[in-house]
Amino acid sequence: MDKILVHGGKKLSGTVNISGSKNSALPILAATLLTKEECVIHHVPDLSDVHYMLQILDHLGAQVERASGTVTVKAEKVTTDAPYEIVRKMRASVCVLGPLLGREREATVSMPGGCVIGDRPIDLHLKGFEALGAAVRVVGGDVKVLAPQLKGAVIPMTGKFGSTVLGTDNVMMAAVLAEGTTVIDGAAEEPEVVDLANFLNKMGAKVEGAGTRRIIIEGVKELHGAEHEVIPDRIEAGTFMVAAAICGTEVRLRRVQPEHLGSVAQALERAGFRIETTKTTVTVTGNGDPTSLELTTETYPGFPTDMQAQMCALLSRAKGISTVTENIFPQRFMHVSELKRMGANITLENNTAIINGVNALSGAPVMASDLRASAALVLAGLRAEGVTEVNRVYHIDRGYEKIDDKLRQLGANIQRLEGL
Ligand code: UD1
Repeated sequence: MDKILVHGGKKLSGTVNISGSKNSALPILAATLLTKEECVIHHVPDLSDVHYMLQILDHLGAQVERASGTVTVKAEKVTTDAPYEIVRKMRASVCVLGPLLGREREATVSMPGGCVIGDRPIDLHLKGFEALGAAVRVVGGDVKVLAPQLKGAVIPMTGKFGSTVLGTDNVMMAAVLAEGTTVIDGAAEEPEVVDLANFLNKMGAKVEGAGTRRIIIEGVKELHGAEHEVIPDRIEAGTFMVAAAICGTEVRLRRVQPEHLGSVAQALERAGFRIETTKTTVTVTGNGDPTSLELTTETYPGFPTDMQAQMCALLSRAKGISTVTENIFPQRFMHVSELKRMGANITLENNTAIINGVNALSGAPVMASDLRASAALVLAGLRAEGVTEVNRVYHIDRGYEKIDDKLRQLGANIQRLEGL
Protein backbone atom coordinates (compact mmCIF):
# COMPACT_ATOMS: atom_id res chain seq x y z
CA MET A 1 0.00 0.00 0.00
CA ASP A 2 1.34 3.44 -0.93
CA LYS A 3 1.82 6.25 1.57
CA ILE A 4 2.03 9.98 1.01
CA LEU A 5 4.51 12.05 3.02
CA VAL A 6 3.84 15.78 3.24
CA HIS A 7 6.46 18.12 4.65
CA GLY A 8 4.34 21.08 5.70
CA GLY A 9 5.00 24.77 5.47
CA LYS A 10 5.73 25.28 1.77
CA LYS A 11 3.88 28.04 -0.04
CA LEU A 12 2.01 26.94 -3.17
CA SER A 13 1.93 28.96 -6.35
CA GLY A 14 1.55 28.45 -10.09
CA THR A 15 -0.97 26.78 -12.37
CA VAL A 16 -2.62 23.37 -12.22
CA ASN A 17 -4.72 21.59 -14.85
CA ILE A 18 -7.96 20.07 -13.59
CA SER A 19 -8.87 16.57 -14.83
CA GLY A 20 -12.17 15.26 -16.16
CA SER A 21 -14.91 14.62 -13.63
CA LYS A 22 -14.94 11.21 -11.97
CA ASN A 23 -18.63 11.48 -11.12
CA SER A 24 -19.50 12.32 -14.72
CA ALA A 25 -17.17 9.79 -16.31
CA LEU A 26 -18.53 6.81 -14.34
CA PRO A 27 -22.22 7.05 -15.40
CA ILE A 28 -21.25 8.17 -18.91
CA LEU A 29 -19.09 5.06 -19.32
CA ALA A 30 -22.00 2.96 -18.01
CA ALA A 31 -24.29 4.66 -20.55
CA THR A 32 -22.17 3.34 -23.43
CA LEU A 33 -23.86 -0.01 -22.70
CA LEU A 34 -27.08 1.46 -24.13
CA THR A 35 -25.91 1.06 -27.74
CA LYS A 36 -24.30 -1.58 -29.93
CA GLU A 37 -22.34 1.14 -31.67
CA GLU A 38 -18.98 2.62 -30.76
CA CYS A 39 -18.80 5.48 -28.25
CA VAL A 40 -15.73 7.67 -27.79
CA ILE A 41 -15.33 9.49 -24.48
CA HIS A 42 -12.63 12.13 -24.01
CA HIS A 43 -11.15 13.74 -20.89
CA VAL A 44 -11.66 10.57 -18.85
CA PRO A 45 -9.54 10.84 -15.69
CA ASP A 46 -6.95 8.17 -14.93
CA LEU A 47 -8.35 6.94 -11.60
CA SER A 48 -8.83 3.57 -9.97
CA ASP A 49 -12.64 4.05 -9.92
CA VAL A 50 -12.54 4.54 -13.69
CA HIS A 51 -10.41 1.38 -14.06
CA TYR A 52 -13.02 -0.56 -12.05
CA MET A 53 -15.78 0.73 -14.33
CA LEU A 54 -13.81 -0.29 -17.43
CA GLN A 55 -13.32 -3.76 -15.91
CA ILE A 56 -17.08 -4.03 -15.37
CA LEU A 57 -17.79 -3.01 -18.98
CA ASP A 58 -15.23 -5.57 -20.15
CA HIS A 59 -16.84 -8.23 -17.95
CA LEU A 60 -20.25 -7.40 -19.45
CA GLY A 61 -18.87 -8.10 -22.92
CA ALA A 62 -17.95 -4.64 -24.21
CA GLN A 63 -14.74 -4.00 -26.13
CA VAL A 64 -12.91 -1.29 -24.24
CA GLU A 65 -9.84 0.62 -25.35
CA ARG A 66 -8.07 3.40 -23.56
CA ALA A 67 -5.48 5.77 -25.02
CA SER A 68 -4.46 8.42 -22.50
CA GLY A 69 -7.63 10.39 -21.69
CA THR A 70 -9.80 8.83 -24.41
CA VAL A 71 -11.86 5.69 -23.86
CA THR A 72 -13.55 3.86 -26.72
CA VAL A 73 -16.31 1.40 -25.88
CA LYS A 74 -18.19 -0.87 -28.24
CA ALA A 75 -20.82 -3.01 -26.54
CA GLU A 76 -22.07 -4.99 -29.53
CA LYS A 77 -23.37 -7.74 -27.29
CA VAL A 78 -23.76 -7.58 -23.55
CA THR A 79 -24.36 -9.99 -20.72
CA THR A 80 -26.47 -8.71 -17.85
CA ASP A 81 -24.79 -10.05 -14.74
CA ALA A 82 -22.23 -8.04 -12.75
CA PRO A 83 -21.12 -10.18 -9.78
CA TYR A 84 -19.81 -9.21 -6.35
CA GLU A 85 -16.11 -9.84 -7.13
CA ILE A 86 -16.09 -7.05 -9.67
CA VAL A 87 -18.62 -4.56 -8.34
CA ARG A 88 -17.67 -4.65 -4.64
CA LYS A 89 -14.69 -2.35 -5.17
CA MET A 90 -16.83 0.61 -6.12
CA ARG A 91 -20.28 1.67 -5.04
CA ALA A 92 -20.89 3.55 -8.28
CA SER A 93 -20.95 0.18 -10.11
CA VAL A 94 -24.65 0.28 -9.36
CA CYS A 95 -25.08 2.69 -12.28
CA VAL A 96 -24.81 -0.17 -14.80
CA LEU A 97 -28.26 -1.32 -13.62
CA GLY A 98 -30.14 1.42 -15.51
CA PRO A 99 -28.49 0.94 -18.93
CA LEU A 100 -28.70 -2.86 -18.76
CA LEU A 101 -32.37 -2.67 -17.82
CA GLY A 102 -33.00 -0.17 -20.63
CA ARG A 103 -31.24 -2.21 -23.29
CA GLU A 104 -31.73 -5.84 -22.24
CA ARG A 105 -34.81 -5.46 -20.03
CA GLU A 106 -32.97 -7.27 -17.25
CA ALA A 107 -29.93 -6.94 -15.03
CA THR A 108 -28.37 -8.61 -12.02
CA VAL A 109 -25.88 -6.53 -10.11
CA SER A 110 -24.46 -7.23 -6.70
CA MET A 111 -26.05 -4.94 -4.11
CA PRO A 112 -23.63 -2.26 -2.93
CA GLY A 113 -22.91 -2.40 0.79
CA GLY A 114 -22.69 0.52 3.18
CA CYS A 115 -19.45 2.42 3.27
CA VAL A 116 -17.42 4.40 5.69
CA ILE A 117 -19.44 7.57 5.04
CA GLY A 118 -22.59 5.78 6.17
CA ASP A 119 -25.43 3.58 5.12
CA ARG A 120 -25.93 4.11 1.39
CA PRO A 121 -29.26 2.69 0.30
CA ILE A 122 -30.43 2.40 -3.31
CA ASP A 123 -34.14 2.24 -2.52
CA LEU A 124 -34.91 5.28 -4.68
CA HIS A 125 -33.15 3.76 -7.71
CA LEU A 126 -35.19 0.58 -7.27
CA LYS A 127 -38.50 2.39 -6.76
CA GLY A 128 -37.77 4.26 -9.99
CA PHE A 129 -37.22 1.00 -11.89
CA GLU A 130 -40.44 -0.41 -10.41
CA ALA A 131 -42.34 2.66 -11.54
CA LEU A 132 -41.08 1.95 -15.07
CA GLY A 133 -42.58 -1.53 -14.81
CA ALA A 134 -39.64 -3.60 -13.59
CA ALA A 135 -39.90 -6.36 -11.02
CA VAL A 136 -37.13 -5.91 -8.47
CA ARG A 137 -35.83 -8.65 -6.17
CA VAL A 138 -32.85 -8.86 -3.86
CA VAL A 139 -31.56 -12.44 -3.82
CA GLY A 140 -28.29 -13.69 -2.35
CA GLY A 141 -26.88 -10.18 -2.15
CA ASP A 142 -27.76 -9.41 -5.78
CA VAL A 143 -30.34 -6.95 -7.10
CA LYS A 144 -32.27 -8.51 -9.96
CA VAL A 145 -34.39 -6.28 -12.14
CA LEU A 146 -36.58 -7.66 -14.88
CA ALA A 147 -39.00 -5.80 -17.12
CA PRO A 148 -40.43 -7.51 -20.20
CA GLN A 149 -41.81 -4.04 -20.92
CA LEU A 150 -40.56 -0.67 -19.75
CA LYS A 151 -43.21 2.06 -19.74
CA GLY A 152 -42.72 5.75 -19.03
CA ALA A 153 -44.06 6.99 -15.69
CA VAL A 154 -44.01 9.92 -13.30
CA ILE A 155 -41.29 9.10 -10.77
CA PRO A 156 -40.73 11.01 -7.53
CA MET A 157 -37.00 10.70 -6.74
CA THR A 158 -36.57 12.63 -3.49
CA GLY A 159 -35.74 10.84 -0.25
CA LYS A 160 -35.03 11.79 3.35
CA PHE A 161 -31.75 13.47 2.40
CA GLY A 162 -32.96 15.16 -0.75
CA SER A 163 -32.38 14.11 -4.33
CA THR A 164 -30.13 11.25 -5.41
CA VAL A 165 -27.46 11.76 -8.07
CA LEU A 166 -26.82 8.17 -9.17
CA GLY A 167 -30.51 7.34 -8.66
CA THR A 168 -31.47 10.09 -11.11
CA ASP A 169 -28.75 8.86 -13.52
CA ASN A 170 -29.88 5.25 -13.26
CA VAL A 171 -33.56 5.93 -13.86
CA MET A 172 -32.75 8.34 -16.70
CA MET A 173 -30.60 5.66 -18.40
CA ALA A 174 -33.38 3.07 -18.17
CA ALA A 175 -36.10 5.51 -19.24
CA VAL A 176 -34.41 6.65 -22.46
CA LEU A 177 -35.33 3.28 -23.99
CA ALA A 178 -38.75 2.94 -22.30
CA GLU A 179 -42.01 3.28 -24.16
CA GLY A 180 -43.58 6.73 -23.75
CA THR A 181 -42.80 9.65 -21.45
CA THR A 182 -41.04 9.53 -18.11
CA VAL A 183 -41.01 12.47 -15.71
CA ILE A 184 -38.43 12.43 -12.91
CA ASP A 185 -39.70 14.75 -10.17
CA GLY A 186 -37.22 15.90 -7.55
CA ALA A 187 -34.32 15.00 -9.84
CA ALA A 188 -30.76 15.77 -8.77
CA GLU A 189 -29.57 19.02 -10.39
CA GLU A 190 -25.83 18.31 -10.23
CA PRO A 191 -23.72 19.23 -13.31
CA GLU A 192 -22.78 15.55 -13.65
CA VAL A 193 -26.44 14.69 -14.28
CA VAL A 194 -26.53 17.36 -16.99
CA ASP A 195 -23.35 15.96 -18.55
CA LEU A 196 -24.87 12.48 -18.67
CA ALA A 197 -28.11 13.85 -20.19
CA ASN A 198 -26.07 15.70 -22.85
CA PHE A 199 -24.26 12.48 -23.72
CA LEU A 200 -27.54 10.53 -23.89
CA ASN A 201 -28.99 13.18 -26.22
CA LYS A 202 -25.92 12.86 -28.47
CA MET A 203 -26.74 9.13 -28.60
CA GLY A 204 -30.24 9.95 -29.88
CA ALA A 205 -32.13 10.10 -26.57
CA LYS A 206 -34.75 12.75 -25.88
CA VAL A 207 -34.01 14.16 -22.44
CA GLU A 208 -35.11 17.63 -21.39
CA GLY A 209 -34.81 19.58 -18.16
CA ALA A 210 -31.56 18.06 -16.83
CA GLY A 211 -30.13 20.53 -14.33
CA THR A 212 -33.60 21.28 -12.95
CA ARG A 213 -35.77 19.37 -10.46
CA ARG A 214 -37.93 17.97 -13.28
CA ILE A 215 -36.45 15.85 -16.06
CA ILE A 216 -38.68 14.77 -18.93
CA ILE A 217 -37.64 11.83 -21.06
CA GLU A 218 -39.35 10.79 -24.27
CA GLY A 219 -38.45 7.14 -24.84
CA VAL A 220 -36.87 6.14 -28.17
CA LYS A 221 -36.50 2.71 -29.82
CA GLU A 222 -32.70 2.65 -29.93
CA LEU A 223 -29.61 4.73 -29.39
CA HIS A 224 -26.52 5.10 -31.55
CA GLY A 225 -22.81 5.70 -30.93
CA ALA A 226 -21.60 9.17 -29.91
CA GLU A 227 -18.51 11.15 -29.00
CA HIS A 228 -18.33 13.24 -25.85
CA GLU A 229 -15.94 15.16 -23.64
CA VAL A 230 -16.43 14.82 -19.90
CA ILE A 231 -16.79 18.07 -17.91
CA PRO A 232 -14.00 19.18 -15.54
CA ASP A 233 -14.02 17.73 -12.05
CA ARG A 234 -15.51 20.40 -9.78
CA ILE A 235 -14.51 18.50 -6.64
CA GLU A 236 -10.88 18.15 -7.70
CA ALA A 237 -10.99 21.85 -8.58
CA GLY A 238 -12.54 22.72 -5.21
CA THR A 239 -9.87 20.67 -3.44
CA PHE A 240 -7.09 22.62 -5.19
CA MET A 241 -8.89 25.88 -4.34
CA VAL A 242 -8.75 24.89 -0.68
CA ALA A 243 -5.10 23.82 -1.06
CA ALA A 244 -4.37 27.30 -2.40
CA ALA A 245 -6.29 28.90 0.45
CA ILE A 246 -4.58 26.78 3.10
CA CYS A 247 -1.06 27.68 2.12
CA GLY A 248 -1.12 29.60 -1.12
CA THR A 249 0.24 32.75 -2.42
CA GLU A 250 -1.57 32.63 -5.75
CA VAL A 251 -2.75 29.46 -7.51
CA ARG A 252 -4.50 29.32 -10.85
CA LEU A 253 -6.69 26.37 -11.85
CA ARG A 254 -6.95 25.78 -15.59
CA ARG A 255 -9.57 23.78 -17.53
CA VAL A 256 -12.43 24.35 -15.08
CA GLN A 257 -16.04 25.44 -15.38
CA PRO A 258 -16.22 28.26 -12.81
CA GLU A 259 -20.04 28.25 -12.86
CA HIS A 260 -19.89 24.80 -11.20
CA LEU A 261 -17.74 26.16 -8.39
CA GLY A 262 -20.02 28.93 -7.12
CA SER A 263 -20.73 27.65 -3.61
CA VAL A 264 -17.08 26.73 -2.95
CA ALA A 265 -15.87 30.08 -4.27
CA GLN A 266 -18.43 31.90 -2.11
CA ALA A 267 -17.38 29.99 1.01
CA LEU A 268 -13.72 30.82 0.39
CA GLU A 269 -14.56 34.46 -0.24
CA ARG A 270 -16.51 34.58 3.00
CA ALA A 271 -13.43 33.12 4.70
CA GLY A 272 -11.39 36.03 3.36
CA PHE A 273 -9.76 34.72 0.15
CA ARG A 274 -9.78 36.43 -3.21
CA ILE A 275 -11.25 34.46 -6.12
CA GLU A 276 -10.98 35.59 -9.72
CA THR A 277 -12.49 33.73 -12.63
CA THR A 278 -12.31 33.74 -16.40
CA LYS A 279 -14.32 31.46 -18.68
CA THR A 280 -12.11 28.44 -17.95
CA THR A 281 -9.86 29.41 -15.04
CA VAL A 282 -10.14 30.20 -11.37
CA THR A 283 -7.42 31.98 -9.40
CA VAL A 284 -7.31 31.81 -5.62
CA THR A 285 -5.17 34.22 -3.67
CA GLY A 286 -4.26 33.24 -0.14
CA ASN A 287 -4.41 36.12 2.28
CA GLY A 288 -3.30 34.80 5.65
CA ASP A 289 -5.48 32.57 7.78
CA PRO A 290 -9.19 32.17 7.10
CA THR A 291 -11.90 33.75 9.16
CA SER A 292 -14.40 31.36 10.70
CA LEU A 293 -17.51 30.24 8.82
CA GLU A 294 -20.85 28.57 9.25
CA LEU A 295 -21.21 26.05 6.49
CA THR A 296 -23.91 23.53 5.61
CA THR A 297 -23.72 20.87 2.91
CA GLU A 298 -26.62 20.75 0.48
CA THR A 299 -27.49 19.33 -2.89
CA TYR A 300 -26.30 21.35 -5.90
CA PRO A 301 -26.05 24.34 -6.22
CA GLY A 302 -25.47 24.33 -2.44
CA PHE A 303 -22.14 23.54 -0.83
CA PRO A 304 -21.16 19.96 -1.82
CA THR A 305 -20.74 17.19 0.74
CA ASP A 306 -17.70 16.08 -1.29
CA MET A 307 -15.93 19.32 -0.20
CA GLN A 308 -16.89 19.15 3.49
CA ALA A 309 -13.78 17.34 4.77
CA GLN A 310 -11.42 19.67 2.90
CA MET A 311 -13.18 22.72 4.42
CA CYS A 312 -12.86 21.18 7.90
CA ALA A 313 -9.09 21.02 7.28
CA LEU A 314 -9.02 24.69 6.22
CA LEU A 315 -11.21 25.91 9.09
CA SER A 316 -9.03 24.07 11.63
CA ARG A 317 -6.64 27.02 11.22
CA ALA A 318 -9.32 29.73 11.12
CA LYS A 319 -9.60 32.60 13.56
CA GLY A 320 -12.62 31.85 15.76
CA ILE A 321 -15.22 29.11 15.87
CA SER A 322 -16.68 27.57 12.70
CA THR A 323 -19.55 25.14 12.33
CA VAL A 324 -19.84 22.64 9.51
CA THR A 325 -23.15 20.81 9.22
CA GLU A 326 -23.38 17.71 7.05
CA ASN A 327 -26.89 17.28 5.66
CA ILE A 328 -26.29 14.73 2.89
CA PHE A 329 -24.30 12.01 4.68
CA PRO A 330 -24.78 12.81 8.41
CA GLN A 331 -22.05 10.36 9.50
CA ARG A 332 -19.41 11.64 7.11
CA PHE A 333 -16.89 12.81 9.71
CA MET A 334 -14.18 10.14 9.70
CA HIS A 335 -11.57 12.83 9.02
CA VAL A 336 -12.33 14.60 12.30
CA SER A 337 -10.48 12.18 14.57
CA GLU A 338 -7.45 12.23 12.25
CA LEU A 339 -7.43 16.04 12.07
CA LYS A 340 -7.54 16.06 15.88
CA ARG A 341 -4.39 13.91 15.90
CA MET A 342 -2.78 16.78 14.01
CA GLY A 343 -3.81 19.25 16.71
CA ALA A 344 -7.18 20.44 15.38
CA ASN A 345 -9.79 21.34 17.98
CA ILE A 346 -13.04 19.85 16.69
CA THR A 347 -16.07 18.48 18.52
CA LEU A 348 -18.94 16.69 16.91
CA GLU A 349 -22.54 17.34 17.85
CA ASN A 350 -24.78 15.06 15.82
CA ASN A 351 -24.13 16.05 12.20
CA THR A 352 -22.31 19.28 13.03
CA ALA A 353 -18.57 19.74 13.49
CA ILE A 354 -17.70 22.63 15.78
CA ILE A 355 -14.23 23.76 14.86
CA ASN A 356 -12.29 26.02 17.19
CA GLY A 357 -9.44 27.35 15.06
CA VAL A 358 -5.90 26.68 16.33
CA ASN A 359 -2.68 28.60 15.64
CA ALA A 360 -0.81 25.59 14.34
CA LEU A 361 -1.34 22.01 13.18
CA SER A 362 1.42 19.47 13.63
CA GLY A 363 2.35 16.69 11.24
CA ALA A 364 1.43 13.15 12.33
CA PRO A 365 0.89 9.69 10.90
CA VAL A 366 -2.78 9.59 9.87
CA MET A 367 -5.09 7.09 8.26
CA ALA A 368 -7.10 7.87 5.14
CA SER A 369 -10.63 6.51 5.56
CA ASP A 370 -12.43 7.58 2.40
CA LEU A 371 -11.71 9.53 -0.73
CA ARG A 372 -12.44 13.11 0.34
CA ALA A 373 -11.32 12.56 3.95
CA SER A 374 -7.91 11.52 2.61
CA ALA A 375 -7.68 14.68 0.54
CA ALA A 376 -8.46 16.71 3.68
CA LEU A 377 -5.53 15.06 5.50
CA VAL A 378 -3.14 15.91 2.66
CA LEU A 379 -4.39 19.53 2.75
CA ALA A 380 -3.92 19.72 6.52
CA GLY A 381 -0.43 18.28 6.05
CA LEU A 382 0.47 21.07 3.62
CA ARG A 383 -0.04 23.62 6.39
CA ALA A 384 1.12 21.54 9.39
CA GLU A 385 4.50 21.87 11.06
CA GLY A 386 6.64 18.79 10.41
CA VAL A 387 5.80 15.68 8.43
CA THR A 388 2.37 14.18 7.87
CA GLU A 389 2.28 10.55 6.79
CA VAL A 390 -1.00 9.69 5.08
CA ASN A 391 -1.59 5.94 5.00
CA ARG A 392 -4.03 3.98 2.82
CA VAL A 393 -3.52 6.31 -0.12
CA TYR A 394 -5.54 4.02 -2.39
CA HIS A 395 -8.57 5.97 -1.20
CA ILE A 396 -7.13 9.15 -2.77
CA ASP A 397 -6.25 7.37 -6.01
CA ARG A 398 -9.94 6.50 -6.45
CA GLY A 399 -10.75 10.12 -7.18
CA TYR A 400 -7.68 12.31 -7.67
CA GLU A 401 -5.49 11.97 -10.72
CA LYS A 402 -1.84 12.27 -9.63
CA ILE A 403 -2.62 14.56 -6.71
CA ASP A 404 0.95 14.29 -5.40
CA ASP A 405 2.47 15.26 -8.79
CA LYS A 406 0.06 18.17 -9.19
CA LEU A 407 0.76 19.53 -5.70
CA ARG A 408 4.51 19.10 -6.23
CA GLN A 409 4.24 21.17 -9.41
CA LEU A 410 2.74 23.95 -7.28
CA GLY A 411 5.70 23.79 -4.92
CA ALA A 412 4.52 21.38 -2.22
CA ASN A 413 7.07 19.10 -0.59
CA ILE A 414 5.18 15.85 -1.05
CA GLN A 415 6.37 12.34 -1.81
CA ARG A 416 4.68 9.05 -2.53
CA LEU A 417 6.27 5.96 -0.99
CA GLU A 418 5.19 3.01 -3.07
CA GLY A 419 4.18 -0.40 -1.80
CA LEU A 420 4.66 0.15 1.94
C1 UD1 B 1 -23.00 10.84 -5.64
C2 UD1 B 1 -21.51 11.04 -5.80
C3 UD1 B 1 -20.85 11.29 -4.45
C4 UD1 B 1 -21.56 12.43 -3.72
C5 UD1 B 1 -23.06 12.19 -3.63
C6 UD1 B 1 -23.81 13.37 -3.06
C7 UD1 B 1 -21.01 9.68 -7.76
C8 UD1 B 1 -20.31 8.51 -8.32
N1 UD1 B 1 -20.95 9.85 -6.43
O1 UD1 B 1 -23.18 9.66 -4.86
O2 UD1 B 1 -19.48 11.63 -4.69
O3 UD1 B 1 -21.04 12.51 -2.39
O4 UD1 B 1 -23.58 11.96 -4.98
O5 UD1 B 1 -23.58 14.51 -3.80
O6 UD1 B 1 -21.59 10.47 -8.48
N2 UD1 B 1 -30.14 8.00 -0.77
C9 UD1 B 1 -31.25 7.28 -0.35
N3 UD1 B 1 -31.77 6.35 -1.20
C10 UD1 B 1 -31.24 6.12 -2.44
C11 UD1 B 1 -30.12 6.86 -2.85
C12 UD1 B 1 -29.58 7.79 -1.99
O7 UD1 B 1 -31.73 7.47 0.76
O8 UD1 B 1 -31.78 5.27 -3.17
C13 UD1 B 1 -29.56 9.01 0.15
C14 UD1 B 1 -28.08 8.76 0.46
O9 UD1 B 1 -27.92 7.84 1.53
C15 UD1 B 1 -27.61 10.16 0.80
C16 UD1 B 1 -28.41 11.03 -0.16
O10 UD1 B 1 -29.54 10.25 -0.55
O11 UD1 B 1 -27.96 10.48 2.13
C17 UD1 B 1 -27.66 11.47 -1.41
O12 UD1 B 1 -27.04 10.35 -2.00
P1 UD1 B 1 -26.81 10.23 -3.57
O13 UD1 B 1 -27.02 11.54 -4.22
O14 UD1 B 1 -27.60 9.08 -4.09
O15 UD1 B 1 -25.28 9.85 -3.64
P2 UD1 B 1 -24.63 9.00 -4.81
O16 UD1 B 1 -25.36 9.27 -6.07
O17 UD1 B 1 -24.44 7.60 -4.37
